[in-house]
Amino acid sequence: MEILIQPSAASATQLAAEMIAQTLRANPRAVLGLATGHTLEPVYARLAQMHQKLLLDFSGCRTFNLDEYIGLPAADPNSYRSYMNLHLFEKVNIARHNTHLPDGMATHLDAACADYEGRIARIGGIELQLLGIGLNGHIGFNEPPSRSDSRTHVEELSPETIRHNAPQFASPARVPRRAITMGIGTILDSHRCLLLATGAEKADIVAQAVEGPLTGQIPASALQTHFNCTVILDSAAAARVEAQVQTVIS
Ligand code: F6R
Repeated sequence: MEILIQPSAASATQLAAEMIAQTLRANPRAVLGLATGHTLEPVYARLAQMHQKLLLDFSGCRTFNLDEYIGLPAADPNSYRSYMNLHLFEKVNIARHNTHLPDGMATHLDAACADYEGRIARIGGIELQLLGIGLNGHIGFNEPPSRSDSRTHVEELSPETIRHNAPQFASPARVPRRAITMGIGTILDSHRCLLLATGAEKADIVAQAVEGPLTGQIPASALQTHFNCTVILDSAAAARVEAQVQTVIS
């Protein structure tokens, strides 16, 4: 696991966006795994800027998002499809048919999960999977306790995740209780993982994920077993990471 610590959230964001852009420049048909959440909003803003100012080309790229709420239509402003449209897809030249999210409105949810796995496999797997981390160590919506070999599945959201995500909704009662998420095994199959965490609120969980024992209680700790995982942190999120593994790039 490579850990890159940046002095500020802005420079951590910039570095993450640059790595995604490099992947796209090297392979314009790259398959990107995407995530949602506050941490990644400025990454998508930076990618949109790179498209506008530096002509970063998304026309051949294919994307698979980690997760989607169950029971929210795509057009609902809180769906992850709406999030992706707002923050990235409407701002770059990506073909909408090349963007994939799990179908949280499917009648047969298990079949929708299997279909999503099949689509990822048929396209040849994910080249770069972008990740955020939840306060309980979740990646995607893999809540503790998680299994390191899980595939795309239906997950019950933890009370902590519901609380964290509630401000986007009219009331906490409106937060969906379930989501479809890629499994930890699905994520670990990606050729490269890139986890971004910023802010002091993530410091404890980041240290447990990158230096603590491998445990389903901290789902992100499974990333320690990935052969090509980069973790980008700002100094606040890195505050509890042991000094010897820190690499500062300014
Ligand atoms: C959502 C996802 C989640 C978030 C995580 C962090 O697609 O993958 O794992 O990345 O909950 O969210 P923020 O950045 O809002 O703290």
